[in-house]
Amino acid sequence: MTAIQDTPGAAGAVGLQAAFDAALANDERIEPRDWMPDKYRATLIRQIAQHAHSEIIGMQPEANWITRAPSLRRKAILMAKVQDEAGHGLYLYSAAETLGVSRDELLDKLHTGRQKYSSIFNYPTLTWADVGAIGWLVDGAAITNQVPLCRCSYGPYARAMVRVCKEESFHQRQGFESLLALSRGTEAQHAMAQDAVDRWWWPSLMMFGPPDADSTHSAQSMAWNIKRHSNDELRRRFVDICVPQAEALGLTLPDPDLRWNEERGHYDFGAIDWDEFNEVLRGNGPCNEQRLANRRRAHDEGAWVREAAFAYASKHMEAKG
Ligand SMILES: [Fe+2]
Ligand SMILES: [Fe+2]
Repeated sequence: MTAIQDTPGAAGAVGLQAAFDAALANDERIEPRDWMPDKYRATLIRQIAQHAHSEIIGMQPEANWITRAPSLRRKAILMAKVQDEAGHGLYLYSAAETLGVSRDELLDKLHTGRQKYSSIFNYPTLTWADVGAIGWLVDGAAITNQVPLCRCSYGPYARAMVRVCKEESFHQRQGFESLLALSRGTEAQHAMAQDAVDRWWWPSLMMFGPPDADSTHSAQSMAWNIKRHSNDELRRRFVDICVPQAEALGLTLPDPDLRWNEERGHYDFGAIDWDEFNEVLRGNGPCNEQRLANRRRAHDEGAWVREAAFAYASKHMEAKG
């Protein structure tokens, strides 16, 4: 959709709204210069910012293991992966900026707790196996969530997701491969892999958000073609994908109620502890404070880089006249 510019003239807001609705009905993309309802813009800013924040905060739990990776090969892979997450943050902050907010403003909201990031990153990485479990389960859940976002109605967000998903699928596979090596290793390595899966499984299921009945933003986001599937639908899809993969890994998923339901054609699984989810969301997870403190410190310590980059860009602008 490119025909409608953000200049509500004589046609008035009614015509603009009708054109926006028609674009959605035809499954067209909305682009930055198109007219859009204020609430659509605000919803996208909130979602893309939260997504961007999750990418950069998500660098921390795994970066914790870069210096202690068990081999040069594992270290190189992990460094590339953590760097990819920084890149995802950059694509997403850029996508958010097309909606009329600045990156500074969004980072300030993250640092002051006015915008959130995914709660999954408030759990600690206790052993090397956690790096594998995060790749397999956390990046795996992220892909399940994000593949449908490649068809999201907002063009810049959808296009950023195409590249992000390609990289996430590499992340997921490296996590699986790392866990497989541990699972097939010594008894102690196998136990370490199992322990990591035991700790990351339930938080990964929580990544899809609250059950549909309690999800406040879902219905409107689906009407706007931002969200294509409900939280429960995506969670079910993720469980169905993971069960055979866990079998291939020789590891078990920590849920005694997990079993195939012939009638539904899906796996049934046990109840999720939403009290835990809400506690972490409220800021009381094991690492909430530490993650934000690290982020603020990194931002402060990087001030000279931003100043230098700004001075360099200004000089170039002057030289160009
Ligand atoms: Fe990512
Ligand atoms: Fe990732």
